Amino acid sequence: MSQPLKLGVAGLGTVGAGLVQLFQEHGARLALVLGREIKIAGVSARARQKPRAIKLEGLPWFDAAEQLAVDPGIDVFVELIGGEEGVARAAVEAALKAGKHVVTANKALLAKHGTELARLAEAHGAALNFEAAVAGGIPVIKTLREALAGNQVRRVYGILNGTCNYILTQMQEEHRAFAEVLKEAQDKGYAEADPTFDIGGFDTAHKLALLTSLAFGTEVALDQIHVEGIQGISQADIEAADDLGYRIKLLGVALLTDSGIEQRVHPAMVPKHSAIAEVSGVTNCIAIDGDFVGNVLLAGPGAGAKATASAVAGDIGDIARGAFAAPFGVPAARLKPYRRARLGQHQGAYYVRLSVFDRPGAMASIAGRMGERGVSLESIVQRRPRWALPGIDARPKPGAPTAVILITHETTEEAIRAALSAIHADGNVSEPPQMIRIEPL
Ligand SMILES: NC(=O)c1ccc[n+]([C@@H]2O[C@H](COP(=O)([O-])OP(=O)(O)OC[C@H]3O[C@@H](n4cnc5c(N)ncnc54)[C@H](OP(=O)(O)O)[C@@H]3O)[C@@H](O)[C@H]2O)c1
Repeated sequence: MSQPLKLGVAGLGTVGAGLVQLFQEHGARLALVLGREIKIAGVSARARQKPRAIKLEGLPWFDAAEQLAVDPGIDVFVELIGGEEGVARAAVEAALKAGKHVVTANKALLAKHGTELARLAEAHGAALNFEAAVAGGIPVIKTLREALAGNQVRRVYGILNGTCNYILTQMQEEHRAFAEVLKEAQDKGYAEADPTFDIGGFDTAHKLALLTSLAFGTEVALDQIHVEGIQGISQADIEAADDLGYRIKLLGVALLTDSGIEQRVHPAMVPKHSAIAEVSGVTNCIAIDGDFVGNVLLAGPGAGAKATASAVAGDIGDIARGAFAAPFGVPAARLKPYRRARLGQHQGAYYVRLSVFDRPGAMASIAGRMGERGVSLESIVQRRPRWALPGIDARPKPGAPTAVILITHETTEEAIRAALSAIHADGNVSEPPQMIRIEPL
């Protein structure tokens, strides 16, 4: 057997403790598979005295992660602290500059500084592996970077945030309101006390930024992503979608177009019998559309101590074998600048929900506004809602608002937005129109 591979593990929280447990349970088997032993040669966390569920006896302790990162006794620095700046960034940079390989689960750090860290890693002949940073236990980075390298990827999209998918699934299955389900998710520990990062779509955007770079060989461009969260999704939308044959999912989508790359995070309608629609609860899934392979769908646990540790261990295994690729597939110096496609030019069909005052001429005016912008309608449904809608009575009186659901044929984002803003300005609706993109699968 070769020399053991020596790890410095910084961060002993959910993922770090999961990793220590994994090596304690599977160390011997892994050594057989890899042909060398993996040894934890040092650990670091914030509070040494903190009671922990894992055994740390005999493991050298480092008060400062930056010190562990450059310690001559380690080959690989495993960063499981988190955060886009501060200790995590400083320690990762120090490790790479010292020629140490780095494995990290830190999507925030990579989404913000991925391109420069990849350059640093390559300049120092070090690996920078981050499988756990996107969709926890699902091996999507390796799939894109290695297994599908022979393809021109056209689109990569997926459900990348378990909290949002849990909330939307509960709203769907239990007919409950967004706020009520969010509160329950917080009580169960699925959602943070401040849920903005998840429900606002930002966590999905971090992961999407990394997938885009891997799929299209472009510099990481987090600040170029169009981001919408799920806060505006009502029970009315969930149930209308169901009636129309759709489910609503928060998707991260990266799409290659003639004018550049679309990167968008938003709630989307997907056909309810599609595989992605059936991904429920906290499960994640990613679909990759490659020109030779066709459509590949990966699904599995997107978070959690064991699933995430599994991905970290896979990255460490690659380093142990000496089989590591450029962090984003192509060498960092060859990553192309990201060219953003204008969202206004996005082509697609749309779901629109309007609260229309039930009075003569209102529907004709709405149809007219759509027509002026060249938006044609596939269906119009006007009826007494079976859902509780703000301001809408189950038995509407003449003149009171009533729910109208429109599905458009394919059009541009610019056209639908212009039509909806004219409809709103005309005063025939009691609240701003709701618009949800229909993602073709
Ligand atoms: N949790 C998941 O399911 C999951 C999934 C995918 C990716 N990730 C990513 O994995 C990383 C870690 O997440 P986590 O959930 O394991 O976080 P966590 O449970 O909050 O653990 C963070 C760890 O970092 C340590 N730490 C904090 N500040 C430090 C400092 N200044 N110096 C050294 N150590 C410090 C903490 O020390 P103490 O223990 O002493 O407080 C703790 O052990 C993050 O980047 C996260 O985005 C997590």
